[in-house]
Amino acid sequence: MKKTSLNDIAKHLGVSKTLVSFVLNGKAKEYRISEEICKKVQDVAQELNYHPNRIAQGLRTGKTKTIGLIIADIANPFFGKLGREIEQEAARHGYHVIFCSSDENPEKSEQQIAMLQQSQVDGYIISPPMNSEDQIRTLAKRNIPFVLIDRYFPEIECNYIVVDNFDAAYKATNHLLALGRKRIANITLNVDLQNMKARTEGYKQALRDASIEIDENLVKILPFSHDNKDVARSIKELVGKKDNMLADAILFSTSKIGVMGIECISDLGLKVPDDVAIVSFDNADAYTICVSPVTVVAQPLKEIGKTAVQIVLNEIKNQKTLLKIQKITLKTNFIIRKSCGS
Ligand code: RIB
Repeated sequence: MKKTSLNDIAKHLGVSKTLVSFVLNGKAKEYRISEEICKKVQDVAQELNYHPNRIAQGLRTGKTKTIGLIIADIANPFFGKLGREIEQEAARHGYHVIFCSSDENPEKSEQQIAMLQQSQVDGYIISPPMNSEDQIRTLAKRNIPFVLIDRYFPEIECNYIVVDNFDAAYKATNHLLALGRKRIANITLNVDLQNMKARTEGYKQALRDASIEIDENLVKILPFSHDNKDVARSIKELVGKKDNMLADAILFSTSKIGVMGIECISDLGLKVPDDVAIVSFDNADAYTICVSPVTVVAQPLKEIGKTAVQIVLNEIKNQKTLLKIQKITLKTNFIIRKSCGS
């Protein structure tokens, strides 16, 4: 079947090929093309099943209007929802997104960066796995447009947009302390990542500031590829002995751990918050339908996604200019529900 070209659309509407190109490449506003005309062009493009040849576009203009997105795991609701925000904001500017899951594996992220380079993406949005510093340094050295999301490497001067994990965990722990919980546990991941380390540090600092000695038995560290059994083992160690529980509250550093943890707590016949209070990072959908809806540290996904796209597009549009590096740290939203006992 013959592929629809810009010319076909132009002939169909009786307008110039240039006008059609401006509309379909997100330049309508720049060239003051009316919304009415834009809609007609987009409707005909859809009707004629038009799909731009991104590689040909890349060869002609040096731009494919695509962004490479590398996150840990697209199946994880946090990254899935963040990826959606990024995709929607990119589309508003006429850009497509190629998704890659690194599984927090630096070898995988290296292969994915190489694949995306061969695909001629114009820029990258990366949630960098641990030990991928050299890959990020190479992108920076080659002046390739990119921004880091979710975590960054303090020793590398580059664009990033993250949340204040330390402050979020500090406040979440203080909230539990204010409700009278004294033996607060933290279940986190054994990844050497700035964001995860900051969460546990914020939790510990809140305990220190409340003159509570840090008990490392209350800090459980799971492998990134943890499953229910790993979480169940930690939960049993913390609250498995009903008459002699180590913990009276748990801060889950991710919702993936938290959702599994709540199932384990329920399997032990324990009540939230009566037997154990809970706070978790990330506002998982499942948390609102729990018997005691879960108090969460929610990350501003829309703002993270929108800002990340705007930073990388600005880099793409001004690739020849030395732009000021953007280091953005956003506040989280603390949503109080019944799981912490307030
Ligand atoms: O599993 C998702 C969690 O880990 C989120 O809190 C996000 O920050 C990621 O690093």
